[in-house]
Amino acid sequence: MCGIFGYVGSRTATPILLDGLRTLEYRGYDSAGIYIPGHALIKAVGPIDNLAAKITTAIPGTSGIAHTRWATHGAPTEANAHPHTDMSGAIGIAHNGIIENFRELREGLVVQGIKFESETDTEVLAKLIGTFYSGNLLEAVKHALINVRGTYGIAVISKYKPDEIVAARMGSPIVLGIAADGNFVASDPSALLVHTKDVVYLNDGECALISKNKYQVFTLRGKKLDKTPEKVQWNVEAVQKQGYEHFMLKEIFEAPEVIVNSTRGRLLVGKGRVKLGGLESKLKALSNLKRLMIVGCGSAYYAGQVGRYMIEEYAGLPVEVELGSEYRYKKNLPDKNSAVLVVTQSGETADTIASLRSAKEQNLLTLGIVNVVGSTIARETDAGVYNHAGPEVAVASTKAFISQLTVFVLLTVFLGRERGMTEAEGKQILKELDELPKVLEEYLKQTDKIKAVAKKYAKYTDAMFIGRKFHSPIASEGALKLKEVTYIHSEAFAGGELKHGSIALLDKDFPVIALAPQDDVYKKIISNIEEVKARKAPVLAISTEGDMTIADLADDVLYIPKVHPILQPIITTVPLQLLAYYVGVEKGLNVDRPRNLAKSVTVE
Ligand code: F6R
Repeated sequence: MCGIFGYVGSRTATPILLDGLRTLEYRGYDSAGIYIPGHALIKAVGPIDNLAAKITTAIPGTSGIAHTRWATHGAPTEANAHPHTDMSGAIGIAHNGIIENFRELREGLVVQGIKFESETDTEVLAKLIGTFYSGNLLEAVKHALINVRGTYGIAVISKYKPDEIVAARMGSPIVLGIAADGNFVASDPSALLVHTKDVVYLNDGECALISKNKYQVFTLRGKKLDKTPEKVQWNVEAVQKQGYEHFMLKEIFEAPEVIVNSTRGRLLVGKGRVKLGGLESKLKALSNLKRLMIVGCGSAYYAGQVGRYMIEEYAGLPVEVELGSEYRYKKNLPDKNSAVLVVTQSGETADTIASLRSAKEQNLLTLGIVNVVGSTIARETDAGVYNHAGPEVAVASTKAFISQLTVFVLLTVFLGRERGMTEAEGKQILKELDELPKVLEEYLKQTDKIKAVAKKYAKYTDAMFIGRKFHSPIASEGALKLKEVTYIHSEAFAGGELKHGSIALLDKDFPVIALAPQDDVYKKIISNIEEVKARKAPVLAISTEGDMTIADLADDVLYIPKVHPILQPIITTVPLQLLAYYVGVEKGLNVDRPRNLAKSVTVE
């Protein structure tokens, strides 16, 4: 939430900052702004393009900071847009996070005669830094931060010494990019890829001073830290559209490649086993596990629910699944036979981080399924598995969700083989998982029908998704995708739940998307479709190839290939993602940047 980008070097800063912001736009697009010390402070409401349109003449200056905002404190107005400045207007700050004690700090500053122009918590920090400035920006920032309660990732620059940027982190990600012709600061390494793959991640409580040829990292108390750059593994193509109209479509079509990357080097098909290097150090604890608690938010939570069905059925381990925003209210007792597994694409979701930390307080073993290498959660869990899905740019999660399901299959076999899963079963699952990218690749060649179906369903204002067992959480994921990308009111229910109340909603204008692959609950979901049809609701069914029963029953059918039941939810997800995408496009919406959302939810 909110993206920060800063540059100090020998090139003109403005175009570099605008390009950096564009890569970070998924983090929020309520407003954007840049500060080139001594030259310009420009802000605009709305996406980066609005800011770029305001920059009509070349701005000199080879350093600056920039920000793209997801509003928390104060409406998305120009006054509330970052960067904010101190009283003198010389010091600028771009901030991601929330300063919790900003009201008391503000009152104290007002008493000193300091005037405010915005409603934001960030401006309070800017003014505070200004009051502590006496020739050394790093010292002023450190001093101010010691007075602050809350979360922040910040980049600060001043016109007194424009060739220096101060960055600091507490709870919101900050990464430095180290390059030959200048240095960078950003909220996410993906924004740095066009410039450098050498990065330095800041930890909570650390700050950095960066100039053209040098970076230094300190603790807030002033201790100098020796941090050497790490290499980012992602390629720059991953953050470019490469001919696709939208990132969302590109990322849906990357599903086969994502499965290849998530499984690379991990499938020991001949032995029916899985190699997960990140979990090897915890093998003993994992063999003794009596309960696994999966925690995540949004799509990651639904992936966790699918994971529960997989692990319980095939690995025989009891699993509970909790929302990141609720887990923290659960009474957790120290238990050496339980582990908490957090699932997260970004590795920076505030509620998931809070859950992880609360599990750590109880000394529970903490594991992660994380996509972003070097993220907070990747670093704070005891052990884990990386998704290797590459950077996901569209706000709605698609390829990351597919990779989360894939990793859950790996984890199921990994745990299952220690708990009674036969070699034959392990081999069968892994053989089919190995073949899955090809199956999906073929399937993705024939998705034109989804476009036509989307045209029809785009005219409705409501939709209900139903599924059972593995496909109950997939129904939730389908509904989430449709609502976030198309703004159609969408709900999801386990098929059996309909008759307990929700069926009252249905009529001829309330379509039902029924997930009905031919699995062991097929007959039950067919009964649910019958119930729905009796209420005259239009039915769009997703079923496996060759199913003629459903063709007679549903108004529309999208066929998918039939695969092993543990893999079926991976396939079923794809037409739901494409449905949401094509309905959004049909409605003329910005599918990559849905309203009110941001990709990385770093506020609780
Ligand atoms: C939905 C979506 C969100 C995220 C959720 C968790 O399309 O993208 O629901 O899944 O915000 O994010 P991560 O996985 O980064 O923790």
